[in-house]
Amino acid sequence: MAKKDYIGIGIIGCGTISDVYLTNITQHYHNVKVIACADMFLEKAEAAKEKFNLPKACTVDELLANPEVELVVNLTIPAAHYEINMKALNAGKNVYCEKPLALNLEDAEATVKLAKEKGLIACSAPDTFLGAGVQTCRKMIDEGKIGRPVGFTANLVCPGHELWHDAPEFYYKQGGGPMWDMGPYYITALVSLLGPVKRVSCMAKISRAERDIHGTPMKVEVPTHYAGLMEFENGVIGNVNMSFDVWDSQLPCMEIYGTTGMLTVPDPNLFGGTVNYFDGNKLTDIVKAVEGPAFARLVTMVTKTPECREEAPLAYPADEDPRCNMRGLGVSDIAQSLIEGRESRLSGELSRHVVEILAAFDKAAKEGVTVEMTTTCQRPAPMAEGLALWQVD
Ligand SMILES: NC(=O)c1ccc[n+]([C@@H]2O[C@H](COP(=O)([O-])OP(=O)(O)OC[C@H]3O[C@@H](n4cnc5c(N)ncnc54)[C@H](O)[C@@H]3O)[C@@H](O)[C@H]2O)c1
Repeated sequence: MAKKDYIGIGIIGCGTISDVYLTNITQHYHNVKVIACADMFLEKAEAAKEKFNLPKACTVDELLANPEVELVVNLTIPAAHYEINMKALNAGKNVYCEKPLALNLEDAEATVKLAKEKGLIACSAPDTFLGAGVQTCRKMIDEGKIGRPVGFTANLVCPGHELWHDAPEFYYKQGGGPMWDMGPYYITALVSLLGPVKRVSCMAKISRAERDIHGTPMKVEVPTHYAGLMEFENGVIGNVNMSFDVWDSQLPCMEIYGTTGMLTVPDPNLFGGTVNYFDGNKLTDIVKAVEGPAFARLVTMVTKTPECREEAPLAYPADEDPRCNMRGLGVSDIAQSLIEGRESRLSGELSRHVVEILAAFDKAAKEGVTVEMTTTCQRPAPMAEGLALWQVD
């Protein structure tokens, strides 16, 4: 029998983000084929079918009953993730879910447990950490380019999604807020770069009781400004700022500090970007060679720093557009893992650990405690070096 070269997928949730998934899956990722799409509003599924020339638009139950669907791509809102994921697993389907996997650790545990019992994969976005930007940083850290990692800063600060999103209400309900909405990109990238997390502490607040949703005031149910701290199992410590209450800022998205250098990690919500490397050994040599008083060395330390900074070549090509949106890379990686019988880079254990970390920020802030993690995970395997864009190996 000829080796199967694609996996049949079913898309559930044909809203805002489904557009880029369907564009990429139908145009770029050749190891997946859309069998059907579904939405609680059938007309939305019909519209997606029409636009992307898909074979079938149907109800969720019809999609789950379709034997050709092997992998469900759950693109519904966070509050619906758990229910749809469990239904899909019970129907014998592998699951890739938009982030987060679940809204609490108990539901994430139940999802991973059921998947394990059934011999299926259940994991969640983001897959941006598989992009060339974070993968380049991963390679440089693993090769010891910055020495031993000791610290980091991770920052997502913006004015809030009601400025642009058509239906932004869910961002201010349970499962929304900057930590649950944007935190997964940062936390997943950090776990890929540094390994699993040991403990979390945090302060968080609802800065404005109401948000203006296209002219209608809405009560805010979740914190919109987080000031958090994390310690990783390898001893690395750092701070995490996540906010929908900041109009502008000069904070970097992410920086990793090591004993002999530092890395500027590009936006973990994107796939490409610029990786900057600072060589601490070079700075040390330059400063040590300065003759004269300490002040001369101080001035040199400050003014010579540009010589020690360089843009690192990406581990594999990124699109010319640094905002290149390769969403679906993780779906393609899961498909390839199913075809080849290897582990997928995204795993239920990783997604569950990320959910526990996100929940820990809330718990730490609410109770004024430092929260120890009860779960852990393997660092996901790095992408192969030198991949062609859109290719999974
Ligand atoms: N919008 C973005 O830019 C963006 C980016 C990255 C990730 N995400 C994530 O993608 C997911 C979806 O976000 P979105 O912005 O596309 O939301 P959306 O509201 O635009 O779309 C969600 C779709 O799911 C459908 N749906 C909701 N509950 C359902 C259910 N129980 N059964 C079947 N269909 C159901 C809705 O009818 C809607 O069409 C979220 O998890 C979000 O965090 C969104």
